[in-house]
Amino acid sequence: MINKIEQGRDEPPGPAVLAAGLNVRRGDRQVLRGLDFAVRAGEVTGLLGPSGCGKTTLMRAVVGAQDRVGGTLEVLGRPAGRAELRPRIGYVTQAPSVYPDLTVRQNLDYFAAILGLARGARRDEVGRVLADVDLTGHSDALAGNLSGGQRSRVSLAAALLGTPELLVLDEPTVGLDPVLRRSLWALFHRLAAERGTTLLISSHVMDEADRCDRLLLMRDGRLLADGTPDELRRRTGADSVEDAFLALVEADRDRTEPTGEPRR
Ligand SMILES: Nc1ncnc2c1ncn2[C@@H]1O[C@H](COP(=O)(O)OP(=O)(O)OP(=O)(O)O)[C@@H](O)[C@H]1O
Ligand SMILES: [Mg+2]
Repeated sequence: MINKIEQGRDEPPGPAVLAAGLNVRRGDRQVLRGLDFAVRAGEVTGLLGPSGCGKTTLMRAVVGAQDRVGGTLEVLGRPAGRAELRPRIGYVTQAPSVYPDLTVRQNLDYFAAILGLARGARRDEVGRVLADVDLTGHSDALAGNLSGGQRSRVSLAAALLGTPELLVLDEPTVGLDPVLRRSLWALFHRLAAERGTTLLISSHVMDEADRCDRLLLMRDGRLLADGTPDELRRRTGADSVEDAFLALVEADRDRTEPTGEPRR
């Protein structure tokens, strides 16, 4: 696919992620069940739903880390999981992984080297992503001595190396204080606005929903609804996205469990 920067001004970019009838089995369970959705390029899309609904599984499928994926899943115009997509996608897992015995800068320099950046370019790039996540002052601290929130920002910085077109962030703000959460959301929007980055961000905190351009609401391996926060509120007559979500759950229950029998 042609990315946003290379594309003609008048041509709207294709979706960054396109799923049709997306299924995933894990163990003997059907964890994702026939999802259809598109993630628009250059926007911040929130993936919301309760614990266990399949957010991480969906993200793993998008970045190509999940096996037993069925249906259609296209990422940046290619089938998900293709090797050539790897440098174009940044992924931060739910449990951030950094090397505790290396400093913050050494961690990032190592990941930049894996990306194939030359030594000179690495220094600039590492400096840039450290500033992005506001960790410049901690660059020489051992990663093992950082707080949990600081460590998760090192993982985020690693995902920003090389300016990926698509950033997939699994609950990046969990456990962070409100000030830091706000500054990270500002960073996410800056990346979308200034670099044309597409961000897919999961959360189970509904009050983060309003910080997203668009939302995918999930429940129990299925997509309940998608749209802008305003659209979802309007569609359900609710005042908050949380209430909209609960209304959609109720409507879904009525549709799928008309007899009141528990669903398998
Ligand atoms: N390796 C596995 N084998 C079988 N089932 C699994 C496996 N990993 C996850 N699951 C199941 O898949 C479902 C979706 O899990 P997933 O981690 O995608 O949910 P989630 O929405 O990310 O939850 P959370 O908000 O707690 O992170 C859960 O019911 C979980 O029990
Ligand atoms: Mg998860």
